[in-house]
Amino acid sequence: MLIYGDVIDVKTLAKVVEIAPNIYWVGAVDWHRRIFDALINLPYGTSYNAYLVKGKEKTVLIDTVNPGFEEELFKKVDEVVEPKRIDYLIMNHAEPDHAGAIPKVLLNAEDAKLVATKFGVEMARVFYDVPSERVEAVRDGDVLDLGGKTLRFMEAPMLHWPETMFTFCEEDAVLFPCDFFGAHLASDKLFDDEVGELLLPEAKRYYAEIMMPFSASIKRGLDKVANLDIKMIAPSHGPIYRNPRRIMDAYEKWARGPLEHKALLIYVSMWGSTDTLAKTIAEAVSAEGVEVVPHNLVVADISHIARDLVDANAVIIGSPTLLGGAHPLATLATELVRILRPRAKLAAIFGSYGWGGGATNRIRGQLEPAGFNIVGTVEVQGPPKKEDLERAVSLGRLVARKIKERT
Ligand code: FEO
Repeated sequence: MLIYGDVIDVKTLAKVVEIAPNIYWVGAVDWHRRIFDALINLPYGTSYNAYLVKGKEKTVLIDTVNPGFEEELFKKVDEVVEPKRIDYLIMNHAEPDHAGAIPKVLLNAEDAKLVATKFGVEMARVFYDVPSERVEAVRDGDVLDLGGKTLRFMEAPMLHWPETMFTFCEEDAVLFPCDFFGAHLASDKLFDDEVGELLLPEAKRYYAEIMMPFSASIKRGLDKVANLDIKMIAPSHGPIYRNPRRIMDAYEKWARGPLEHKALLIYVSMWGSTDTLAKTIAEAVSAEGVEVVPHNLVVADISHIARDLVDANAVIIGSPTLLGGAHPLATLATELVRILRPRAKLAAIFGSYGWGGGATNRIRGQLEPAGFNIVGTVEVQGPPKKEDLERAVSLGRLVARKIKERT
């Protein structure tokens, strides 16, 4: 498998791949993208998967590509059918990495209609200026008969935008869920079984950042596809699953499975006092037989924090007091924890200060309104003394025992 940094044979990336009879991958691999949402690192790049479905009577393009990759899309489509012959463009999701080429596709295929949910139709108007006469709104359960290929639409709101839907090809049992089940992973290999051990950790990192905040929608989405006899899952990022259970089981575990005996310890230290507390707490948690995963915010990748939040049972956050509040790195990390809405709601806070505290209260103020249960706080003045370290040990033990009580 090629990953970024390898010598790339461009020809292997330019190919159209028939993933099922008359269903073609016509997407693009973005080897060099290194950040998403101006927030999340993409160490392995990503891909924008688009699919062409050719029925006996009608031809459909499912999703498009990120702006800048339109020519690659058209070139691939043209290998199967002239782009102007596209009859329908299905927009499972309106975000520009999949919908950015809609204006060009519709300009080229003058008679094509855009198919989307009712909410999607509105977003296509707002984002891409698609006029009402070029759209067809579909509802949950609606079908589109292409002649020997039947596409069924399944509304899947908030996975992860309000307009999102899945498309299912009934004859071939291929599910096109767009972002759901995706992974940011550029590769010259298109199928899950061709990609090594990197795939599920990257899918988990993706899940944490994109899907985890929408836990109720994830469960509804999983329930919706549970009774389909799916042979293949073709998401909009990363490999296509010829073994759909591989990613479906992973999602079930991340969304509904038991949480791990694991606490995340997220902290920043300026002069070593908070660092000493962090190490003491970590050792106390570990001594109780509970895994502790430390993230020093000076060097941490926030996407790794997000990934580790998926199945952690508790979050312990530490910060020195800076100008009366928490260190900005701790504020940012706490905000990340809050908005990602992990299943773990058990939390503890610690920190140090020079002449007046405030960091732990500031962090508490971020976490408590979001439903986190703060089981303990330790805040010390200056370098931790013996009694401070004993309090830190007690806090670590308390968190570990709370985790053990719950699992
Ligand atoms: Fe991959 Fe929500 O776009």
